[in-house]
Amino acid sequence: MTENESFFQIYRLSDRDFELISHLVYDTVGIYLPPEKKILVESRLQQLLKQENIQSFDELYQRIVRDPNSPLLSDLINRLTTNHTYFMRESAHYDYMVQVLFPQWKTMKQRDIRIWSAGCSSGEEIYTIAILIREHFSPFIPDEWGLLGTDISLRVLTQAEEGKYLADRLENLDPSLIQRYFIPIDDTSYQLLPEIRSMVLFKRFNLMNETYPFKGKFDIIWCRNVLIYFDQAHKDFIISHLVNVLKPGGYLFVGHSETIEREKYQLTFIQPAIYQKEAL
Ligand SMILES: C[S@@+](CC[C@H](N)C(=O)[O-])C[C@H]1O[C@@H](n2cnc3c(N)ncnc32)[C@H](O)[C@@H]1O
Repeated sequence: MTENESFFQIYRLSDRDFELISHLVYDTVGIYLPPEKKILVESRLQQLLKQENIQSFDELYQRIVRDPNSPLLSDLINRLTTNHTYFMRESAHYDYMVQVLFPQWKTMKQRDIRIWSAGCSSGEEIYTIAILIREHFSPFIPDEWGLLGTDISLRVLTQAEEGKYLADRLENLDPSLIQRYFIPIDDTSYQLLPEIRSMVLFKRFNLMNETYPFKGKFDIIWCRNVLIYFDQAHKDFIISHLVNVLKPGGYLFVGHSETIEREKYQLTFIQPAIYQKEAL
């Protein structure tokens, strides 16, 4: 260690430790970390080692392997996943929902509508949906309608439940919506009103789980900017499980940079990043 490194306590990640850690992440959450990500892994995990008083990446790895239920594994995953998101991101999906699906839902009385944001991060995506539903259906939102947000990371789910956001996350929202649905906390942050927060259920869920144990099927699954982290085998696994829990005729929304081979999964291409499951 150089003098500078010992002063700032920089932990170096060897090629061998990178390989062990990237295998661990791949096996646990399915995320593939190619060799180019070594520097990123090294820098993102510095704080974890310091905080836990762990002396090396090897020690970190050994401690997780000895006790796979330790919070260290979840902390490591939290730090390696990219959680960036914001309200009204990739607005074409919201336009489609409002312009094409909302009018259909309005004419289908007595129907339960279920929407899942899979890989919801800190909640901006599913809360944008909740706000739009409130805008277009209030005061007649049936009790059976359900909005679900899931993520692998407990840290982002806690933020989602709190509903507190820095102003830059709200930049794409119409100012009138900000005024109606948020309370300013200070000059730089806002909190979403309890009436919108209570519309959404947040749960921890790993998309690599063998089973997807949901009670009912979904009308729309938003799985945007999540598949990008997985290799083809894991992508296949996740998409086929998502399609299984869609209602016939239900929609899968993916990120605009994510393409999927629709023939493999009984999906029809509707428009970029929007796919529909075949109706019965
Ligand atoms: C970039 S965010 C996407 C947020 C939002 N969907 C959007 O498009 O703005 C990706 C999220 O996927 C989550 N994620 C990554 N691997 C996962 C897994 N195996 N199971 C569940 N969530 C996962 C990450 O924790 C992260 O919060």
